[in-house]
Amino acid sequence: MREIKNITCIGAGYVGGPTMSVIAQKNPHLNITVVDLNRERIAAWNHEDLSKLPIYEPGLDAIVKKVRGKNLFFSTNIEKAIDQADMIFISVNTPTKTYGKGKGKAADLKHIELCARQIAAVAKDDKIVVEKSTLPVRTAEALKSILHNTGNGVNFHILSNPEFLAEGTAVQDLENPDRVLIGGENKEAIQALVTIYQSWVPKERIITTNLWSSELSKLVANAFLAQRVSSINAISELCEVTGADVNEVAYAVGADSRIGPKFLKASVGFGGSCFQKDILNLVYIARTYNLDKVADYWEQVILMNNHQKERFADKIIKTLYNTVNEKNIAFLGWSFKKDTNDTRESAAISVANYLLEEEANIIVYDPKVSEDQIYRDLDSLNTRNSNKNREMVKVVKSPYEACKQAHAVAILTEWDEFKTYDWQKIYENMYKPAFVFDGRNILDSKKLTELGFKAYVIGKHNN
Ligand code: NAD
Ligand code: UDX
Repeated sequence: MREIKNITCIGAGYVGGPTMSVIAQKNPHLNITVVDLNRERIAAWNHEDLSKLPIYEPGLDAIVKKVRGKNLFFSTNIEKAIDQADMIFISVNTPTKTYGKGKGKAADLKHIELCARQIAAVAKDDKIVVEKSTLPVRTAEALKSILHNTGNGVNFHILSNPEFLAEGTAVQDLENPDRVLIGGENKEAIQALVTIYQSWVPKERIITTNLWSSELSKLVANAFLAQRVSSINAISELCEVTGADVNEVAYAVGADSRIGPKFLKASVGFGGSCFQKDILNLVYIARTYNLDKVADYWEQVILMNNHQKERFADKIIKTLYNTVNEKNIAFLGWSFKKDTNDTRESAAISVANYLLEEEANIIVYDPKVSEDQIYRDLDSLNTRNSNKNREMVKVVKSPYEACKQAHAVAILTEWDEFKTYDWQKIYENMYKPAFVFDGRNILDSKKLTELGFKAYVIGKHNN
């Protein structure tokens, strides 16, 4: 097998961009090209002003500044990049299917298949093809079938190398991963990828497995993480009626080294592009093998999450004397977690939708999410027309403006800056009684109460 010098990554998204930036930084001898169909996205990756990169991730701009134009390139010339590559990462989106068989459950693999067909059509010499996207177990079978039937004599080796980074901490996670997982069949191909990671990842953290274990482990890891969030969220509701405090329970439970303290933060519900999609996919796969008990078990994680979002909205409605009609509800936060501008499956979208159904006015402030994105998220629900969304939802540039003359403030994302606001000033400018609904358990409810607020906090009895 020839030495790897040129790498291409198809898909310049939340995974492709940061992952290739870090690989380029740690491997100055490699030449890496990230390609995408989306011209705007590539132009943004190439933007001189690093604050205009298409993805906000702490620390990413500094790395891009160092490597872009040296050994990292962003391009829309997909064919050329495929032709020149020794190794090709496929890092395209694999969303939940919105049509046909498996609609609303299975992963839509059309982008993956398109990449495989394009690689098959363009490749003139042997290539290692790496699945970086999260895929249903046994997808490599389909890739193999497409790539091996080109009849042009080119050999392809397929590896599975799922990505475990979390948004908001992507650079940190990539630079110091708990583990790197590589599944494959060909020892030399596996070693070629191991060598790239070994530039900075300790050998013992690089796990190699067969293809199917690697593909499945990614879905399972996300299912386990989401399950912990749904578990603590289920307990948060019990805390509210019993007088237990969910933070204290999480701390006491997480202190058991067999359980551990991470991912036990009660919230308004998990969001993000991965958890729901990957569990739905896991459930779908289990059902296709007629494993209904397995499918039902994992489906419950999603049902609990939907319940958590709905009950947060219900709590707002009930507390505001059973009607939010034409009341002003300030939303602090729209992204699905702090330190990212990603809003996919954000709990804020669902909560807003419930409240809009009840004819509330919503005023949103998020430190990183654009006005356009917020309207796109609401329009994509198709629950009301876009004029109505623009009439009922306003997006503002300051938290104080959002909370001015609000009947209630709802915290939807755990941005650190929310803790440092002048809550006295916010209180003075709100309608009274002034309500705060802390869906992230980040504010000091005792202090808020002293200021005069009526505060509801997820998982606490003071509600
Ligand atoms: P994304 O939507 O941000 O990026 C995917 C990019 O692929 C888009 O820019 C799209 O234009 C491009 N694309 C699609 N088809 C293409 C084609 N045929 N040719 C060229 N470009 C094409 O998605 P993402 O968040 O980066 O996720 C990518 C994959 O990684 C998914 O499978 C996801 O499940 C997985 N993943 C995501 C995360 C995360 O935190 N976002 C973490 C781990 C794994
Ligand atoms: C997740 C996985 O963590 C990552 O390994 C995988 O590669 C992609 O999917 P991400 O979705 O980016 O990453 O963020 P994550 O930190 O996992 O948070 C997901 C959601 O769960 C967020 O909405 C977050 O606010 C919520 N969450 C997380 C909680 O509500 N409580 C917690 O204790 C942890």
